[in-house]
Amino acid sequence: MKKNIALIKGDCSSPEIVAQAVRVLDKIAEKYGHEFIYTDVDMGGAAIDKYGDPLPQHELDKCLASDSVLMGSIGGPKWEGLPGPQRAEKGLLRLRAGMGLYSNNRPAKIWPQLSAASPLKDSIVNKGIDFIIVRELIGGVYFGDHKTVTLDSGEKQAIDSMPYSEHEIERIGRVAFDTAMKRNKKLCCVDKANVLDTSRLWREVMHRLCEEYPEVEYSEMFVDNCAMQICKNPSQFDVIVTENMFGDILSDEASEITGSIGMIPSSSLGDTTCGLYEPIHGSAPDIMGQDKINPIATILAAAMMLRFSFDMPAEADDIENAVSAVLDKGLRTADIMSEGCTLVGCIAMGDAILAEL
Ligand code: IPM
Ligand code: MG
Repeated sequence: MKKNIALIKGDCSSPEIVAQAVRVLDKIAEKYGHEFIYTDVDMGGAAIDKYGDPLPQHELDKCLASDSVLMGSIGGPKWEGLPGPQRAEKGLLRLRAGMGLYSNNRPAKIWPQLSAASPLKDSIVNKGIDFIIVRELIGGVYFGDHKTVTLDSGEKQAIDSMPYSEHEIERIGRVAFDTAMKRNKKLCCVDKANVLDTSRLWREVMHRLCEEYPEVEYSEMFVDNCAMQICKNPSQFDVIVTENMFGDILSDEASEITGSIGMIPSSSLGDTTCGLYEPIHGSAPDIMGQDKINPIATILAAAMMLRFSFDMPAEADDIENAVSAVLDKGLRTADIMSEGCTLVGCIAMGDAILAEL
């Protein structure tokens, strides 16, 4: 198969991990007789430096014309002082919205080889951690009005609004119920319905969907309690559905309990198979250029792209098995290092994964 991949190399340490993911994809293409054609796209800090805009329309157009987008991560201290609309992160938000990617799928799954890297007690980890956060990605407070006004008293006041309409909730709800149907048929809606109107509307819409999915065991939990339950008893979760900002926060927490945020990929999809695949971690400016960053999350994001957008499940399995084999051999980047293992850099981790393919 021939596929056009828009490639966002990203900022700071990110080009180092994207380079390893591309090597893996090229090996897969060779092994299975596919052709992957890459088009470089500037977004985030790189685009600010080049065009003074974190996502110019011509770069978004390249993504829209692709079969899918693979990216590392963007942003860094260099661009941090910029006003809201010009920030590197705004490029990512405009990309998600511009591609209509309302559904962000973030798995929290412990690799048995990495259980020692989890900060949780063995007694909790041994019960298993394997759930998915289905995060609404292009609504809520991220996309509501943001403004700072000066009151009559001279004091400044900032306002961020959090709008959700029924159709936005319904479409992400469907993704979540469908995801649960393919897994253990348990879905938990995480919200703040004791305080927020948006959460109460979420519940109303979810209750309507429940009738269409009678096999799914549906439950509800307040987000503060969920943050606690994720460290206390993570094995209770199968699929979590939640709004944009809650999903952002909980997915960082969920990744940490599995050992390292450096291991977790994510997919973002809308109504078509053209998606965006990225690690959930940041651009690691502190270790830039040192060959220390863990490339596994981005390599697994590439595997997710093959599985969900290109319908290449065998190829995706191949990559995931290669990662598992390398972990079995005890190779570890610094973020997942534990006693008795062998410390390797980003390129050597890429080499080892390639060798297993
Ligand atoms: C993420 C990131 C982004 C988000 C930032 C970079 C805007 O934290 O993908 O989780 O908040 O969505
Ligand atoms: Mg985040």
